[in-house]
Amino acid sequence: MADINQTIEQIKQQIDMTNLPKHIAIIMDGNGRWAKKRFLPRNFGHQEGMERVVEIVGAASSLGIKHLSLYAFSTENWKRPVEEVQGLMKILVQYIRRELDKLHKNNVKIQVMGDIEKLPQFAKEEVIRAIEKTFKNTGMILNIGLNYGGRDEIIFGIKNLLIDLKMGKINIDELNEINFSNYLYTKGQPDPDLLIRPSGELRLSNFMLYQIAYTEFYFSDVLWPDFTEKHLLLSIIDYQKRNRRFGGI
Ligand code: FPP
Repeated sequence: MADINQTIEQIKQQIDMTNLPKHIAIIMDGNGRWAKKRFLPRNFGHQEGMERVVEIVGAASSLGIKHLSLYAFSTENWKRPVEEVQGLMKILVQYIRRELDKLHKNNVKIQVMGDIEKLPQFAKEEVIRAIEKTFKNTGMILNIGLNYGGRDEIIFGIKNLLIDLKMGKINIDELNEINFSNYLYTKGQPDPDLLIRPSGELRLSNFMLYQIAYTEFYFSDVLWPDFTEKHLLLSIIDYQKRNRRFGGI
């Protein structure tokens, strides 16, 4: 039985490398509570959360995960105090400045889910630089949810679909579940096989609503700033025990 007290190598040996999830999605939650427990301002939790982003992206990519989607900033997160929003944007920029060369060397391709037009200019520029630099990479696709909402994404898709219908690029009778997914931010990518939510909350919070129709969920009480490579590996082992039927028998 795999458990957190084993070494990374011991846990890894229990993973079936022929049955890895192709796409893992993570709702990175619990940064605020992590900071509060330490009597620190909330942004200290986000800062430590960034260290886990570094760790989990590295672990997923070296394990051979092909797609990783991280929920970093939702369309609802603008309601937070301005200092927290500003702090999060600075942490995002810091992450890109610190990690971009390494990500690029590891062949990771950075993509964004969400409308980055609303991001502050300094953050938007850095995000665009990361997308452009890694554009041709063929390794893991790292989708970062920024100003992202699942409902907002579906509306974004419908708007683009209507444009294509009007221009005669698609016929309404041809529309189906598969080709509609090409109007989403994750165009061309498989749906998540595994969705991880740390921090004990049991909800989806508007994340990838269209794509998670048959996704396996993994909830953990660990707060995101404490969610390490070992936790990721344990979630994959748990996923590999599931009997996925996709509505069949
Ligand atoms: C939710 O925790 C977390 C966020 C809104 C931000 C996630 C951002 C990071 C992990 C920072 C770095 C991201 C990247 C991509 C470099 P919460 O603040 O809602 O926690 P709480 O529920 O405990 O208050």
